[in-house]
Amino acid sequence: MPLILDQHKLEHTRVNLKDINKAHLSRPKNDDGSPLYPEYMPFYDPLEKVEDLGAFEHFDPGHRADPSFPNLLKGATKSFDLSPHVGTEIHGVQVSKLDSKGLDELALLTAQRGAIVFRDQDFGDLGFERQKEVVRHFGPLHIHGWAPHPAAGSVEHMIIYDHKDDLRVRRSWAGRSPIQWHTDQSPEPQTPGTTFICMLESPSTAGGDTLISSSVQAYYSLSPRFRKRLEGLTAVHSNNDGAAAELKNGKDAVMRREVLSTEHPVVIVHPVTKQKALYVNPVYTKYIVGFDKEESDYLLNFLYNHIATRQDFSCRVRYEAGTVLVWDQRVTNHSQTLDYPVGDRRHAFRLTPLANKPIPAKVEEDDGECARDTQRVQMNLC
Ligand SMILES: [Fe+2]
Repeated sequence: MPLILDQHKLEHTRVNLKDINKAHLSRPKNDDGSPLYPEYMPFYDPLEKVEDLGAFEHFDPGHRADPSFPNLLKGATKSFDLSPHVGTEIHGVQVSKLDSKGLDELALLTAQRGAIVFRDQDFGDLGFERQKEVVRHFGPLHIHGWAPHPAAGSVEHMIIYDHKDDLRVRRSWAGRSPIQWHTDQSPEPQTPGTTFICMLESPSTAGGDTLISSSVQAYYSLSPRFRKRLEGLTAVHSNNDGAAAELKNGKDAVMRREVLSTEHPVVIVHPVTKQKALYVNPVYTKYIVGFDKEESDYLLNFLYNHIATRQDFSCRVRYEAGTVLVWDQRVTNHSQTLDYPVGDRRHAFRLTPLANKPIPAKVEEDDGECARDTQRVQMNLC
């Protein structure tokens, strides 16, 4: 039977959709165009210096967690996975109300699922000190080498701000792809773990999402023989490119800390779940130790391409004002999207607890992994 379209009805539907968009999909904004959270405006002080944190003992709170998550999920009204390998969204839970046991369980669930999304949170209204108190549960807070913090204090709050009144970040991406897969601050000697982003104001309709990829699945989707080749390798991570980009701001450049350069295993083990994960990223990883340049470039480019193109182990997190994203940097890579119109306001803060020194995966010539991988056995790939 032919499909006959009623032009009048079609037009009518379009009008309705537009109205629906206006009523339900636009994000909260102040009528006068001012930011919803002026106390979180970015502040740049070119003279500011901070000390490195130095080595510290890390005991991951996930070790203490009840694996049935009774304290984390007791108020949950709904939860669903964003994709099979990474990302879970939980409704009905206020992160600010979780007790110590609830936060322990959040550490474990985040390690297992890579990323957890909470909606309609009051986290942005708690104030700097209470926000830090919650996130310090997961480790001492990182201070960024040059990214802005709020003028009113709290150097640990990293402000993410993009708007026509401050295009500093947007300009730094001009002329190159904004899609840059990475784990935050991987050049730190003790790298970030369970990290928080709190969205304060999103672009007016859609956009500004975060892409997240499972680096556990990035590792396990490789053939067992290739995985073995990667175990035992180490790579140097440095933030020298980011520092050089910041220094282009001239007298306004902020450089609170020295540039970092650290050697980490290419395959790491999560301290709690014991899952192995690929730990290289195109933003910070410079070269494989002991390989000639061409060999290192060849291998790293393969791995970067593997991370970037395997949509089968990634998810996309859309934000609204009040969304809190909690993710474990040891088992994921992520990227910004920067896909909304230039000049629109996107405003968030990140609190980044540092965790363990990356744990190397052991080299085991034949640990039976392939024989335990039922899909590979079924396909005669062992
Ligand atoms: Fe990041």
